[in-house]
Amino acid sequence: MNRFYLTTAIDYANSRPHLGTAYEKIAADVLVRYKRLAGFDVHFVMGNDEHSQNVFRKAKELGEDPRAYCDRMAQQFLEVWGALNLSFDDFIRTTEARHRAGVQELIRRITDVGDIYEGQYEGWYCVSCEAFKQEKDLIDGLCPIHRTKPDWIREKNYFFRLSKYESRLLEHFSAHPEFLIPDVRRNEILRLIESGLEDISVSRAGQSWGIPMPQDPNSVVYVWFDALINYMTAVGYGTDAALFERWWPADVHVIGKDITRFHTVIWPAMLMSAGLPLPRQVFGHGWVHLKGEKMSKSLGTVVEPLEAIAVFGPDPLRLYLTKEITFGSDGDFSWERYEDRYNVDLANNLGNLVSRIGAMAERYRGGRLSPTGNPGRLAAVASQALDDYRSAMDGFALEGGVAAAFRIVDAANEFIASTEPWALARDPARGNELSQVLFDVAEAVRIAGVLLLPVMPKSAEEILRRVGETRPASEIRIADAQWRNTGDRAIVKGDPLWPRAPITVPTGKVAISTSSPTIQTQPVTQRSTNVEDSQQPGAAASFTPAPPPSPSREDAGKITIDDFMKVDLRVAKVLTAEKVPNSRKLVKLTIDAGTEQRTLVAGISEAYEPEQLTGRTIVMVFNLKPAKLMGIESNGMVLAASPEGGKPTLVGFDQEIAPGTRVR
Ligand code: MSP
Repeated sequence: MNRFYLTTAIDYANSRPHLGTAYEKIAADVLVRYKRLAGFDVHFVMGNDEHSQNVFRKAKELGEDPRAYCDRMAQQFLEVWGALNLSFDDFIRTTEARHRAGVQELIRRITDVGDIYEGQYEGWYCVSCEAFKQEKDLIDGLCPIHRTKPDWIREKNYFFRLSKYESRLLEHFSAHPEFLIPDVRRNEILRLIESGLEDISVSRAGQSWGIPMPQDPNSVVYVWFDALINYMTAVGYGTDAALFERWWPADVHVIGKDITRFHTVIWPAMLMSAGLPLPRQVFGHGWVHLKGEKMSKSLGTVVEPLEAIAVFGPDPLRLYLTKEITFGSDGDFSWERYEDRYNVDLANNLGNLVSRIGAMAERYRGGRLSPTGNPGRLAAVASQALDDYRSAMDGFALEGGVAAAFRIVDAANEFIASTEPWALARDPARGNELSQVLFDVAEAVRIAGVLLLPVMPKSAEEILRRVGETRPASEIRIADAQWRNTGDRAIVKGDPLWPRAPITVPTGKVAISTSSPTIQTQPVTQRSTNVEDSQQPGAAASFTPAPPPSPSREDAGKITIDDFMKVDLRVAKVLTAEKVPNSRKLVKLTIDAGTEQRTLVAGISEAYEPEQLTGRTIVMVFNLKPAKLMGIESNGMVLAASPEGGKPTLVGFDQEIAPGTRVR
């Protein structure tokens, strides 16, 4: 069996995980779950970086023993990673004995070949970065990242002959273009190496917190030199030769773009010096921002993963981060967009599809489905989606893999709308046709469920159970995503997987180290009211987009494309129309929105008779919160042009468009 060893960066233990650090771990988890689905023997390692000076200082500040502080922080990390359902096989901490042994072993080896020598360091050191800085790196004498003055240090240090490896590194990059991806990071690092490498300091003198240099117990190993070696010590380097033989070299290190230099210049040079194989690949992902702002504790722009999990659970968060961010580029999170995507992708789209097949299978076929003929067009859609999914996931395009799975979901919803199972059910002569249509939908849901297993492990397993899968998820393989027009399936009806969400935004802090965080939420927007005219046709939709921080005069009052995309406009067909008793303006409509039927109340009664409306194609706001009008719940809003003082005219099309089609 092919083996696959993946690592993430190990996190500094002096602050709790936030959505940015969690993003990296979620993406890595999606990758390894995909590899397991594809039949690989996977080893997935994460961990904590504990020998930073910041860790030591923080512990002292709190009056705690640094080791005990690290233990406490490790519990907090593990709590968050557990809540996100991360499937790591090992969690390494750099204070562990196995790590210390491996670090000292590697340093001895590098020293033995003459690549570590004693010298004197005099220069800047930024503790927040844990990095030595050159004068040219500073802006106005400050660290450009932390805006603080670095420490000037003058001490006996041990140096690593990084400069010696300049040309070998360039050769490696040229022989292995895949070594660092995406390309944008590769180009950056190539320029850096080409501009010349200097030897680097790899020890700190007179400090107690860290791993002692084997040649000098009064110096500790520089935290980055120590931390990088975790990738090998976690698989037995220096302690378990058989384990090391089995897993090293790593197939990929998944790390953030800010630390690619350490991973693709210093780390490979250390391994070259020690005569050890290099990791096959490094993937430098982008950063997650909060509404365009860097996540920063001091600015209050840090999102606690537990807060996000408390709103909708782990799977919607995993889906959002995987689907909405191009893996490798920077991405954005906002509570509003998160809630929108939840409603659109999960409540309205996938969740609704799963509910509908459960309900229709029960209503029309007593909960059992089997094929009665050849599959319809969904089979070809699913087969293409499987190919697209595989090539996207193999190429680290996680967002492309998810999009392929959702193409099956969209197609299944459209298939229901166009085949109209409820109409087939009224005609006894079309019983076989109905059976095959329902079977096809259930099969499409099953395949989408298999493809979504890496992204939404719990929910996808539940979806599979509902469409007749009896095996546990761990036994399912990518080959199971082939279309199967066989079998008698027991379809289970269940509660909605993702009920439509009210808009809420967390305002409270998660109590540190509690297993059940207490979150306070408050409404972001007040949308609908209960008065008759609150949904005037043509009236502006009443959502309130969050304004940019300080709009220029020309931009004042304008919304972004993201704001516009929050409005889910869809084509729908009017099935029935009747005047609302005691109302001059209102008419009650039953409409087919492609994926479901709904009741709408529209203020168009003065302009249209009910019989003019039946069968008509309209455009509606699909994701508007329900509102009661004259006691009738309206689930959406009809679009019409409403001239001042005149009668409304419905928005329409000059040709037939299928219900459910998005308008944008
Ligand atoms: N301890 C070092 C890594 C040593 S690896 C041998 C470190 N730790 S960190 O806690 O600062 O960052 C851990 C990982 O999270 C890094 O890969 C970093 O790039 C990533 N991220 C930190 N903030 C992030 C975002 N806002 N968004 C995405 N990833 C981010 O660096």
